[in-house]
Amino acid sequence: MDNNNVQRDGFTSKFGIIAAAAGSAIGLGNIWKFPYITGVYGGAAFILVYLICIAIIGLPVMLSEFLIGRRAQANAVGSFKKIAPGTPWYLAGWLGLAAAAVILSFYGVVAGWTLDYVFKAVTNQFSGMTPDELGGAFGGLITSPLRPILWQLVFMALTAGVVLGGIKDGIERYTKILMPLLLVIIVVLDIRAITLPGASEGIKFLFSPDFSKLSGAAVMSALGHAFFSLSLGMGTMITYGSYIGKKENLGTTALQVTIADTLIALLAGLAIFPAVFAFGIEPGAGPGLVFITLPNVFNMMPGGYIFAIMFFVLLAVAALTSSVSILEVVVAYFAEEKGISRKSATIWAATGIAVLGAFESLTYSVVDFTLPLYKGGEVLTLPFMDWMIELSDLMLPIGGLFISLFVGFKMLRSDVEDEVTNGGEVKVGYLGAFLFLAKFVAPVAIIIAFLNMLFGWL
Ligand code: PHE
Repeated sequence: MDNNNVQRDGFTSKFGIIAAAAGSAIGLGNIWKFPYITGVYGGAAFILVYLICIAIIGLPVMLSEFLIGRRAQANAVGSFKKIAPGTPWYLAGWLGLAAAAVILSFYGVVAGWTLDYVFKAVTNQFSGMTPDELGGAFGGLITSPLRPILWQLVFMALTAGVVLGGIKDGIERYTKILMPLLLVIIVVLDIRAITLPGASEGIKFLFSPDFSKLSGAAVMSALGHAFFSLSLGMGTMITYGSYIGKKENLGTTALQVTIADTLIALLAGLAIFPAVFAFGIEPGAGPGLVFITLPNVFNMMPGGYIFAIMFFVLLAVAALTSSVSILEVVVAYFAEEKGISRKSATIWAATGIAVLGAFESLTYSVVDFTLPLYKGGEVLTLPFMDWMIELSDLMLPIGGLFISLFVGFKMLRSDVEDEVTNGGEVKVGYLGAFLFLAKFVAPVAIIIAFLNMLFGWL
């Protein structure tokens, strides 16, 4: 090896790539959010729209991110600078960095609630609580000033700990252990749920579509969620793509990650709804679905003590493998573009984002800080934490728009082809279709969805 040239850290195996990238995609989005928005928007019809969004927008944007990163061998900002020097395209990378800070700040808070619930499950605190008391316990947690912040700090420290190890010895190493664990837990929970008497109602809810519930808001949520769930639009997959070896097939990798993410979201639904219906509870429970409804379900379920622990550990593991990918976007930027050591970059970025998140958490309790948000043709006033969640819903599709336009119109077709075929080594039959989706379908769909989100046409 050339001594003057420091070898760039990267993934060392195919399984490591999938574990890390699927680990990023599979997170609170799949297990906490997907089931509750599916519940709110009426089940199977929503899932169908979501699958269409994934196929025609999610998949091409993911491949675009992978190929930008691997081509440039750089972080989210540096990649645009390298491929299109002297142009303002790097601003798309900046948008990604900002989105990373926004998302990780609230993500850490919700992940902190999850750790608190692992603790509550282990110490058997749900047992004997009525549904009302469980609702009160969740409300009490998120509106107490200190407790959520302490757990959020624990979670952010874990995240920083993994990222400090680097790519091969940190992110790849831990995701290779945590992702198989996650799969085993979710399959066990699925088997438990679908073998409950009365589970079939929940399965029907998930798989037989009722199109009358499919509003414009449902379509919007499906698109926004496709970006969030696949970790797209903010440079996560650009950053991870830059760590993928030159011999790996990017198209199949993107396909595998997309399928894994979708499968886990469906398996999460299958672990939750059959159990919810089996005990005669309403499915459209909103954000409280996993924190209020499920503990109630576990109380009634044979073996519920163990299954509750497994469920909240699952949620925490899913959150951790996602949060490391978000922190890595920021760390890679500071380490590569600003010449700061990875160690200091990790510590400073994690600390700064944790402080922001702690402040957000306080806006549920003692800090009265609300901001206005123009959405769906009206102005909403939201606590800062909710405002940040909404903001991320706007940032990711805009980021995705720039990324697909960049690959579709700015990069040379020959460079795109070179990258997806590994310099002609692998045959790809989809190049034309991919470019058509990246140039036209994804951008038009995002713009329509975005305007609709702002003005509430549908
Ligand atoms: N995909 C993650 C989830 O579903 C969240 C995430 C968003 C991670 C954006 C990275 C980037 O929970």
